[in-house]
Amino acid sequence: MISEKVQNVLNSQINKEFYSAYLYLAMSAFFDEIGLYGFANWTKVQAKEEIDHGMILFDYIIERDGKVNLEKIDSPDRNFENPLQVFEKILEHEKFVTESINCVATMSEDECDLATRHFINWYISEQVEEEANARDVITKLKMFGDEKASLYHLDKELGNREYKTHSY
Ligand code: FEO
Repeated sequence: MISEKVQNVLNSQINKEFYSAYLYLAMSAFFDEIGLYGFANWTKVQAKEEIDHGMILFDYIIERDGKVNLEKIDSPDRNFENPLQVFEKILEHEKFVTESINCVATMSEDECDLATRHFINWYISEQVEEEANARDVITKLKMFGDEKASLYHLDKELGNREYKTHSY
């Protein structure tokens, strides 16, 4: 059994993960509209991973005999201008998710729930990777400036990302 406080932050985290999937899908649609199909692929794969993140939390709450509460998912931001601006939004969003995951870790410690504290470590590592991935693309985009040939090659590179079920 988990405490109500831990259950609440885990349910709130499910909502943030599914919102993340919505946000990445909106970004994917934007990239598709402007013909950057590799960027569209990368963000669509990320959306699928976010759904996995939400489902792992969903299964964990049930495994701990808790109650899943599926909150309303907000409509995602659609004010996208160019690849650099989108990836800066991604980094900003992932930093927000990292803070939220850190709060789950802190709450589980406050509630002496060591199982949840251990469980959430996977997400802490995942957030380090997600922030690094966004920063990597931002660095390349800033380096290329308006150089179309480099953008074309980066689009090809991001097009190679394949979805693999993200499991705990
Ligand atoms: Fe599941 Fe991108 O955080």
